[in-house]
Amino acid sequence: MTTMPHPSSAMLDTLPAGLRDTVQRRLERHEGILRDRLRRLYGHLPGHGVWYADLMADVGRLASARPADLLALDRTREADPDWFCAPAMLGYSAYVDRFGGDLRGVAARIPHLRELGVTYLHLLPFLKPRAGESDGGFAVASFDDVDPRLGTMGDLEALAGQLRAAGISLCSDLILNHVADDHPWAAGARAGDEALRGFFHVLPGRAEADAYERTLGQVFPEAAPGNFTFDAAMKGWVWTTFYPFQWDLNYANPALFAAVAAALLRLANRGIDVFRLDSTAFLWKRLGTDCMNQPEAHLILQALRAIVGIAAPGVLLKAEAIVPTRELPAYLGAADAPECHLAYHSTLMTAGWAALAEQDAGLVRAVVDATPALPAGTSWLTYVRCHDDIGWKHLLPEAGGIDRLAAIADFYNGGRGFADCVAFQGGLATNGTAASLCGVQGADVDAAIRRVLLLHALAFSSGGLPMLYMGDELGMVNDHGYLLDPARAHDSRWVQRAAFPAAGIAPDSPAGRIHAGLRRLAALRRRLPDLAAGTPCMALDTSDPALLALVRGTRFLGLFNFSDREVTAGPGGCVLRPWDHAWLDRETGQPLH
Ligand code: GLC
Repeated sequence: MTTMPHPSSAMLDTLPAGLRDTVQRRLERHEGILRDRLRRLYGHLPGHGVWYADLMADVGRLASARPADLLALDRTREADPDWFCAPAMLGYSAYVDRFGGDLRGVAARIPHLRELGVTYLHLLPFLKPRAGESDGGFAVASFDDVDPRLGTMGDLEALAGQLRAAGISLCSDLILNHVADDHPWAAGARAGDEALRGFFHVLPGRAEADAYERTLGQVFPEAAPGNFTFDAAMKGWVWTTFYPFQWDLNYANPALFAAVAAALLRLANRGIDVFRLDSTAFLWKRLGTDCMNQPEAHLILQALRAIVGIAAPGVLLKAEAIVPTRELPAYLGAADAPECHLAYHSTLMTAGWAALAEQDAGLVRAVVDATPALPAGTSWLTYVRCHDDIGWKHLLPEAGGIDRLAAIADFYNGGRGFADCVAFQGGLATNGTAASLCGVQGADVDAAIRRVLLLHALAFSSGGLPMLYMGDELGMVNDHGYLLDPARAHDSRWVQRAAFPAAGIAPDSPAGRIHAGLRRLAALRRRLPDLAAGTPCMALDTSDPALLALVRGTRFLGLFNFSDREVTAGPGGCVLRPWDHAWLDRETGQPLH
């Protein structure tokens, strides 16, 4: 009787000799978790063993195809797995077309990024999108082609190399939850390919869809109500959590999992350093739940992490899960169950804006208190604004009731204060650039600039990897031009997606002052070892509700005045102007420098 070789030894045999020992070592570390997670997800299905062997063969093929410079990068990062946790890290997020016109134009902006101290560039979706409306590229029609309007795969590889030479890692979205309705998988399913139909969730009748709808939420209740879209060719209701043209993928199907894992590794081999795993909370569906944050979603992410650990360990995974604070830490896994390396701290971001509206730092304190220490080798991504809306509802546990959130939303959306913004999702969310939301177009520009810097100082000192959103470093204001475009007018997130200004920066203008302030903050942050990702962040009790006091490590004390009055605080009696902040030595009260 002959026995089948173990899938991983069979895979090792296919590798070039120079890679075999390295991959064997990685398998020893990651394969136990990989097998376990995939067995829990798919072990009950017939043919699991053969499927697993095929998956490992694919992983081996893609590990062998990894270019020499990326293999070298893998080795360097394996030797220094916390490379992204240092306070020198600073992120920047931008749309390719708005930032640089196309991928080559982005390369021309590297000096701007370097001047800010950026070490990590997240380019919003640049893969070939759906024809027509595409949710800003978040409806992907091919994982293997760049949007021809932005360049080619060759341009992408060249840009990744240029960025790396400038000390900047490249982050790309990997839209895990859905593909466009004109992606070949969807087109094939529509044409009757049963295997591809199994890549999607298709419910035969409205009654089945309604059974799920009873407990589902809605991401875009106004622009795209409901979670299912009837498709005549599919003869059923296709699950579409976001827009009707974004078809949710069915991770209960192992073939789909394998296809997505291979797409990830192919892109990694093009030189992507970090994948922003889009909408990770939605990957698993379970009747009777909101189909978010399900345990299986975490098994899927842990399996992907193990695959990356085997075939491309220089690559990081970043979870985009916009969920309540208590659900966030799970996306960073645990010491014995690594998941994503990075996760957006979305409620900390939202709480900062809430604190500005309430002139009370209570919600930020509550979020910091509810945020546990991180597993080693992981980091929060902290931010002030991004391309998406600020969704108030995720703060519900900390706010203790919807009325408080409604009042905060009303402060912004109802024009009750300094902010210039646009309501979204029936008023439960708010859109606008950082400068507009802080009131830079209002009468008190100085106060507005201090508010912009206050929130950035919070993001720069409360996590591990702070990220700037394109234009916020120049105080860019809202652009209402989207209202003239019928494909965009229904989605007010476009108000914060204007083109990068062509003109230079006048030092005395609000743009120049914000730019200089952020550069100072970034430079100071780089010099403060207490701001490394792994150093816990704690909020102190303060007698003044408007004052936030954060401590980290042995020296760092951050003071943040969320009110329009002067506040005195800290060991040395530091006087904070309205909306001002200070980073001090916690023993002496002297400014850190
Ligand atoms: C993420 C993106 C958002 C997009 C959604 C659907 O939340 O940040 O812009 O609309 O996913 O892909």
